[in-house]
Amino acid sequence: MNAKFIDEVRKLGGLSDEDQKLLADMRPAMERQAPAIVAAFYDNLQQNERAYEILNAEPGRVDRLKGHLTHWLYSLVEGNYGDDYFDKRYRIGHRHVEVGLEPRYVIAAMMWCRIKASELMSAEYADDPDAAHRMAALSKAMDLDLNIMLQSYDDKRVEQFLEVTGFSKVLFENMLSGGG
Ligand code: HEM
Repeated sequence: MNAKFIDEVRKLGGLSDEDQKLLADMRPAMERQAPAIVAAFYDNLQQNERAYEILNAEPGRVDRLKGHLTHWLYSLVEGNYGDDYFDKRYRIGHRHVEVGLEPRYVIAAMMWCRIKASELMSAEYADDPDAAHRMAALSKAMDLDLNIMLQSYDDKRVEQFLEVTGFSKVLFENMLSGGG
């Protein structure tokens, strides 16, 4: 299921093998830019009341998250889409459900991150004829990640609903598809 999911989303979204190759040599540039992207990402989030509340619900959480986001940015440019890739993104989605974060915050944060990362990474490729292609590849990779995270949100929330109501999964899926 994981490989099929990634394959399907990559084909539909146009995240090609060529994109994958371009991403794979962007790691040194990402290492240089990640500290600025990460710092700006959390500064921006802290401006939002709900995000601030969640981020500061535990001491040391923001520092821990800075580490998580840095590794996520690195893995984004690895261009390696095995099972591990899917599983990690899927877990990120679950973790956000666990901390009570509504999906719209993740979507908005990704929107913000895409622009910030593109702005800072573009400077690294000022003289590179592939610069625009690289930024598009990065953006597509973020969309792939967002897609996996949202799938996991959806699955986790259905799981919670079934637990609370005692509904069977088959019955629930039949109801959704209008089968009664
Ligand atoms: C581009 C969007 C985002 C990305 C890529 C991202 C990435 C991550 C990652 C990699 C983790 C660690 C998951 C794990 O434990 O395996 C995480 C956890 C978490 N994220 Fe996000 N995140 C995003 C948006 C947000 C937003 C908008 C908030 C707002 C408050 C947030 C708050 C948290 C919290 C509270 C945790 C749990 C931290 C803990 O374990 O103490 N994230 N996120």
